[in-house]
Amino acid sequence: MKILVTGGLGFIGSHTVVELAKENNEIIILDNLYNSKIEVLDKLEKITGKKFKFYKYDLLNKEDVEKVFEENEIDSVIHFAGYKAVGESVEKPLMYYSNNLMSTLNLLNIMKKYNVKKFIFSSSATVYGNKETGICIETMGRGETSNPYGTTKSMIEKILEDLYASDNTWNITILRYFNPVGAHESGLIGEEPNGIPNNLMPYIMKVASGKLEVLSIFGDDYPTPDGTGIRDYIHVVDLAKGHVKALENMKQGLNYYNLGSGKGISVLEMVKTFEKVNNVKVNYKIVERRAGDLAECYADPSKALRELNWKTEKSLEDICRDAWNFEKNN
Ligand code: NAD
Ligand code: UD1
Repeated sequence: MKILVTGGLGFIGSHTVVELAKENNEIIILDNLYNSKIEVLDKLEKITGKKFKFYKYDLLNKEDVEKVFEENEIDSVIHFAGYKAVGESVEKPLMYYSNNLMSTLNLLNIMKKYNVKKFIFSSSATVYGNKETGICIETMGRGETSNPYGTTKSMIEKILEDLYASDNTWNITILRYFNPVGAHESGLIGEEPNGIPNNLMPYIMKVASGKLEVLSIFGDDYPTPDGTGIRDYIHVVDLAKGHVKALENMKQGLNYYNLGSGKGISVLEMVKTFEKVNNVKVNYKIVERRAGDLAECYADPSKALRELNWKTEKSLEDICRDAWNFEKNN
């Protein structure tokens, strides 16, 4: 199968390329390198022993994107490209709406023109919004999002629903990721956030490596067993495998799947496990809750198991070990 992977040099895209390459697919990567480095391409070739066709193109440039479809007989598209920093999206909403929405619309219009109608979209658990309980089930529908980044995900889901309603020959799979963390076991690829990280796992690693002094734990007075926030952390390699399964088991229609482990982990549990597995110290202090945070958010992943034959295989220990291995290598 010929697969176009947009954002394929980014964190989740690069790990997905590795898993797709195992299945003898022909992979074409498009990325403008806004949040990734060209060296990742060499690393992908090193891990897989394969060469990939790469276009350093921006999805906002329609002519360029069209060239990719002109030059390659693409069967399906996995669309990772987009901006993803929650805090930055609050400061620069127009930048987020412009990039995430326009790039997706350009891509879909060109796919329609070239009659390519298999599409997998990277959505997020953030579309569930603030709910009564921590568990998220696909049947719950979307809630109120708390930032422009999350709203772009919700809006794109709606655009895809309208597109499918207008033409039911499309096959669209919407994957809602929970909290992707960890890195490839080779230590060659992983997450490299710019500047001071906002997310828990990259912050823990900066503290463990001495680059930052102390982790602030945002609140220990949530109604959870140890008072700290609970999330569903998913190893990025498990997440990548979820895309391979989604492609293999793609059904006609528009389908949503949660990609998570189904297990809630607290901030303190994460810190303690990281310390134990890697034999390092993570200094932390308890501070006020962070605005917009939920007490609990975890997946009901049973639909993905039933319909895609996918479930997570890696443990929290694997996550902590692989993340730290990548940090040390880089
Ligand atoms: P990432 O930033 O590492 O990768 C995204 C890639 O897209 C980058 O390499 C960037 O250079 C590229 N890109 C951005 N805009 C582009 C454009 N206009 N044209 C071409 N390339 C462009 O992010 P990631 O963590 O790998 O996330 C991938 C997708 O999954 C994103 O859509 C993100 O919103 C979504 N997602 C991520 C998380 C997470 O926690 N990492 C959670 C839920 C959903
Ligand atoms: C956020 C976004 C989500 C996005 C994800 C990954 C929202 C509602 N969710 O998820 O859309 O996909 O990031 O980019 O904005 N924590 C600390 N100290 C820190 C950092 C985090 O205690 O320095 C805690 C948080 O309070 C939370 C947990 O760790 O309980 C996870 O936080 P984080 O990694 O930022 O992810 P989410 O907020 O779940």
